[in-house]
Amino acid sequence: VNESPIAVFDSGVGGLTVFREVQRLLPNEHLLYFGDTARLPYGNKSSETIVRYALKSAHFLCNEGIKLLVVACHTASACALPALQGALSIPVLGVIQPGVDLLLSTTQTRRVAVLGTKSTIESGIYQALLSSKVELFPIACPLFVPIVEEQFFDHEIALLTAEHYLHSLRSTEIDAALLACTHYPLLRHTIQKVLGSQIAIVESAAACAQQVQKLLWTKQLFNQQGPAFSRFYTTDRLSHLTSIATTFLGKDVQTICVNLD
Ligand code: DGL
Repeated sequence: VNESPIAVFDSGVGGLTVFREVQRLLPNEHLLYFGDTARLPYGNKSSETIVRYALKSAHFLCNEGIKLLVVACHTASACALPALQGALSIPVLGVIQPGVDLLLSTTQTRRVAVLGTKSTIESGIYQALLSSKVELFPIACPLFVPIVEEQFFDHEIALLTAEHYLHSLRSTEIDAALLACTHYPLLRHTIQKVLGSQIAIVESAAACAQQVQKLLWTKQLFNQQGPAFSRFYTTDRLSHLTSIATTFLGKDVQTICVNLD
């Protein structure tokens, strides 16, 4: 089982940030990336639908013989982690707890914001994990995902949208904000501009990769046999994942399009 791959699952290409951190930290591990682009966005769907999509993707990955599933998608982590953990016989890690821990270790005023998709914020998971420890300002920013998909990173549309969602945070005296969505780190500059330079903006990718390392250590699941391979799966628009992954990871990638229907 130690030679089996680890899978990183997202609704689209955003989870490549987590993939890259896992690869950086664990270069000997075989990695699969799965972007469910045919069903993106997950972020404004009901949790029943998100659970159904996540289970379908996870069963596909389990049939590929993975030893560990990393759910890089915040929406799927927020809505489907218990369902995945209940249904699969392998360990499943999400991005919620690593982000929460990072946020708690960053804030000094104990006043923080969490920005996520509608489904992530409505799931109540961050409220459940944080409300007893800090003053929490959760904000759903549903237009951020299509803005990033259009690559309008530094466009005035991004700035206006960020103003719209985030201006109310200026009077809250928060000192930290968690980007609880795979897409939001690409709007980091714009978000920082709107929140002000004194606010610490944190994201969960590196913290999640450390959790993966910890789990492999605890369960003695490290791969000792090299060289490591990586494979990329998508459910739609093959060239989209291929070109983004190639640019983002700085090397040629092999992408396979699968039909889960
Ligand atoms: N991957 C999703 C997340 O992190 C964002 C994109 C989507 O809505 O599917 O919440």
